[in-house]
Amino acid sequence: MTIALTGVGFRPLTVPASIDADDAADFVEMMRVRNIVYAEIAGNDDEAMTPEALLPHYQPDPDETRHMWLVIRDGDVVGRVGVDIPHETGSKNAYWLIEILRAHHGAGIGSRAYDLVEQTAREYGRTVLQSWAEHPDASGERLTAPTGFGDIPRDRAARFYQRHGYALEQIERKSVLDFRTAMPLVEQHHLDALAASHGYRVVQWQAPTPAELRDGYAWVKSRMSTDVPAADMEFDEETWDAERIVRHDQRYLDGGQTVLVTAAQHVGTGELVAFNELVVGADRTAATHQEDTLVLKEHRGHRLGMLVKCAGLKTWHAEIAPDSPRVITFNAEENRPMLDINEAIGFAPASYSAGWKKVLA
Ligand SMILES: CC(C)(COP(=O)(O)OP(=O)(O)OC[C@H]1O[C@@H](n2cnc3c(N)ncnc32)[C@H](O)[C@@H]1OP(=O)(O)O)[C@@H](O)C(=O)NCCC(=O)NCCS
Repeated sequence: MTIALTGVGFRPLTVPASIDADDAADFVEMMRVRNIVYAEIAGNDDEAMTPEALLPHYQPDPDETRHMWLVIRDGDVVGRVGVDIPHETGSKNAYWLIEILRAHHGAGIGSRAYDLVEQTAREYGRTVLQSWAEHPDASGERLTAPTGFGDIPRDRAARFYQRHGYALEQIERKSVLDFRTAMPLVEQHHLDALAASHGYRVVQWQAPTPAELRDGYAWVKSRMSTDVPAADMEFDEETWDAERIVRHDQRYLDGGQTVLVTAAQHVGTGELVAFNELVVGADRTAATHQEDTLVLKEHRGHRLGMLVKCAGLKTWHAEIAPDSPRVITFNAEENRPMLDINEAIGFAPASYSAGWKKVLA
């Protein structure tokens, strides 16, 4: 039986200049609801962020257009809808999310929100729509990734994607490293990696990236869009230059976040060939997020992935965020080389997310 959906609307999000601004209430409320939705899914606050930390990432950006709406039900904010339009030349892609408080699931709100997603993508002429969701473990029917690596329960989010024409493309593992027990193994693997990586040295810095390292960092950042296992998910090749690095770093700094970049430099050429990023918000007792990690294809096989991970974790735990209890990272379930490194260090699987795709006619 379909029940008519009344009292539901979508209000474009106002992005204030600062959290103290007169028009900041909707942004603050959006963040409150976002944090509850993630806690309801994961059962913890690992994904929680303050409005101050996320606001800089919503300011006008030459690299993408972000649309967001609040989902209003009977006057209350009960969720959010977002559509990101990347600006890479010739891009067909749009990335989206719909996040609704659990008490309001199953009433048709998500489906109504999805109409807005597709309408927005079409307005920009985008035909490849992609989205990610966490699928907490549950009993019952399962769906297997076409990569052959990983499966998820066919839960409400999975049914929602399928009903709206999406195919499961890739499964990502969320892994967690517990700092209370991790350091002996990290130390040991760091020494092994140092011994195996002659001809390379570690270069470390906190954002903002020093001027002389921006071009090198920009090149390895750009390879994240081409050299990471993507299954049949589609990503534009991103162009990064020193100015984009400055903008990137500034968003983190404006949000009160700390970023440590640990890179491997090829001594012979001075080129940066591998890197790893660790991030924490203003509250350094919260979980640390490990963001990008990459070794350029031509430099694989020298333990540089292990080197930059371990060197980063050591500096982080000793000098930057000694009270952060754990590190969280996401990897493609088929990315065996990366998972081998993480598992050796002591990262343990915590949950699984999936990447979903639909190609519009
Ligand atoms: C996935 C999600 C967006 C779906 O939103 P929703 O509002 O629950 O979606 P709908 O109500 O349109 O559909 C959900 C269910 O309600 C049913 N339903 C739809 N309209 C209905 C109506 N008017 N009356 C009763 N039931 C209805 C659907 O048949 C569907 O049933 P199922 O779960 O058994 O398959 C929502 O559950 C959510 O926010 N989850 C957490 C975040 C997330 O995983 N997002 C994924 C996209 S980023």
